[in-house]
Amino acid sequence: MTHLDAYNRPISYLRISVTDRCNLRCAYCMPPEGIPWVPHEDILTYEEIETVVRAAAELDISKVRLTGGEPLVRLDIVKLVRMLARVPGVDDLAMTTNGILLSRYASSLAEAGLERVNISLDSLQPVRFRSITRGGRLEDVLEGMEAARQVGLEPIKINTVVIRGMNDDEVVDLASRTMETGWNLRFIELMPVGHGGWLGDEWTEKVVTAEEIRQRIESTLGTLEPAKVSAGSGPARYYRLPGAQGTLGFITAISEHFCYRCNRMRLTADGQLRPCLLSDEEIDLRGPLRRGAGVAEIKELLLKGVESKPRQHDLAQSHRPKKRSMSQIGG
Ligand code: 5AD
Ligand code: SF4
Repeated sequence: MTHLDAYNRPISYLRISVTDRCNLRCAYCMPPEGIPWVPHEDILTYEEIETVVRAAAELDISKVRLTGGEPLVRLDIVKLVRMLARVPGVDDLAMTTNGILLSRYASSLAEAGLERVNISLDSLQPVRFRSITRGGRLEDVLEGMEAARQVGLEPIKINTVVIRGMNDDEVVDLASRTMETGWNLRFIELMPVGHGGWLGDEWTEKVVTAEEIRQRIESTLGTLEPAKVSAGSGPARYYRLPGAQGTLGFITAISEHFCYRCNRMRLTADGQLRPCLLSDEEIDLRGPLRRGAGVAEIKELLLKGVESKPRQHDLAQSHRPKKRSMSQIGG
């Protein structure tokens, strides 16, 4: 039986950041020079991550997603995928990646047991893509997506963070790609989580709400119909353009709370369990793991995390998590 938290939410999903490092520097995520990396010795080893996943699986936390930073920059990531795919009780193993290295790794990831990928893509214009990511090649991501499709890492979901003045003029263009491509595209409202409050108090002006995105799409492309997406129904609500192959989703962290149906906890690369993305409360797993804790003891700590999940965030009231940036938590 899946464990319920204090607000009756079943917790079935663990997101694991395997590294805080990244091969891009997205403007809304990191400063150009990057942020100080966590030293190697503080990063959980693959054996330590495996112990956590075994413990989680025994608690019926059966969905696991690897994130970063950028998970594909961690050495031998395919090996970790293979280790986790073998853990009894893990029945959905996925990854969120920026796609830059995906064409190189897609087939070995699939062979190792990865089931699907989410890919971050904030622009379809090569020059703008390069500028947002500070150097990334759009072509690499598109090739990565194609490679993932060919080896069956599906359904592929595409995450687009919409920021006013940065890429909000592309929402119709992006949405229209779902007509023929079968993309599952999700528009994400900008959250005030970044390095050192990079947006200051002006961040609310940069948020484009799902409602506004939806109106822009519908006024050009037609009325959206509710749709279902098979694997891993997360916080997004899904729709389909009339006659489209793919779907459109909205992740409304700002304009509409989805905390009431939150099903997840997060593990940072340095081994801290975060019951909530947007609360700085953390439970240390690395210390216990390095003192020899096994599956049983980690299970107790995971349960403590489940029990301490807060009811909801209050981002709209200007509360911000302070301790870490998104690349250190894994989104
Ligand atoms: N607000 C919303 N989404 C963000 N991401 C990174 N930073 C933010 C932010 N401040 C997204 C990335 C990626 C996912 C893991 O989180 O674009 O798709
Ligand atoms: Fe890297 Fe993702 Fe941050 Fe972009 S948003 S810099 S891809 S971690």
